[in-house]
Amino acid sequence: MTEPADASGVEQARRLLRDARGVVVFTGAGVSAESGVPTFRDADGIWARFRPEEVATPQAFEHDPRFVWEWYAMRRDVIARCQPNPAHHAIARFAAARDDVTVVTQNVDGLHERAALEAGDEPGGRLLHLHGSLFHVRCTGCGREERSAESVDASSAETLPHCDSCGGLLRPAVVWFGEMLPERELEAAFAAAEAAQVCLAVGTSALVYPAAGIPLATAQAGGAVIEVNPEATALSAAARLSLRGGAGELLPDLLDGA
Ligand code: OAD
Repeated sequence: MTEPADASGVEQARRLLRDARGVVVFTGAGVSAESGVPTFRDADGIWARFRPEEVATPQAFEHDPRFVWEWYAMRRDVIARCQPNPAHHAIARFAAARDDVTVVTQNVDGLHERAALEAGDEPGGRLLHLHGSLFHVRCTGCGREERSAESVDASSAETLPHCDSCGGLLRPAVVWFGEMLPERELEAAFAAAEAAQVCLAVGTSALVYPAAGIPLATAQAGGAVIEVNPEATALSAAARLSLRGGAGELLPDLLDGA
């Protein structure tokens, strides 16, 4: 554990955000930790309990779609019971109040959009999902993608969801290991990061590329990176400021005052 964020660090960060033209808020699993959504690489994280190659690769789905769907159905059920926390709400208020904020998330839990809706905002293209969404499905046959929040019966291969148009098997519309990220979102995210004067990186280990390149793109273009994370990460060396603490605890104070 490193030193907790002090008041002068928070004030410096506020000033950077207030003066910036163009802000990217880049989030990872840590922003949802205080909602009860498990992160991936912390000691009690998802990848300590499950093997990614068994649940999060196209090969795993091809080999045993029922098993993979069972895992995603369980994650959907857990997350459907979670609520956005003060960090999601603070980001939603901040983004709704300015016209130069882009939220780029690696998360598939839908909590940013739920917080935005509660703030009376429809973020549209200002909220970019790099790793897809747990609550969308894509047809393995025709490629059609749609929102689907219904619970999935993964008790047998026959009960798995199928496409209304072509009858093909539906899969979770998330990015698995070895797959490309959605091209339009990725391009828009890098464009926003390069144009931003500040990238606020919240709750990410910054280990998974290409997403982890987003804050670095801001830094390389001359902007400042502010990190919010209780621990030092792969990004800390490139950050102008690292605020050590939980997102739900730090962001309302930081963003409401910016
Ligand atoms: P990780 O699990 O790798 O990192 C979570 C980060 O959140 C760590 O740096 C923690 O220190 C931090 N953290 C924990 N609690 C926090 C809190 N209360 N407030 C702020 N930060 C906190 O998650 P990601 O960086 O999101 O990919 O992982 C990136 C990608 O790896 C995920 O999108 C997923 C995974 O494999 C796909 O599913 C494609």
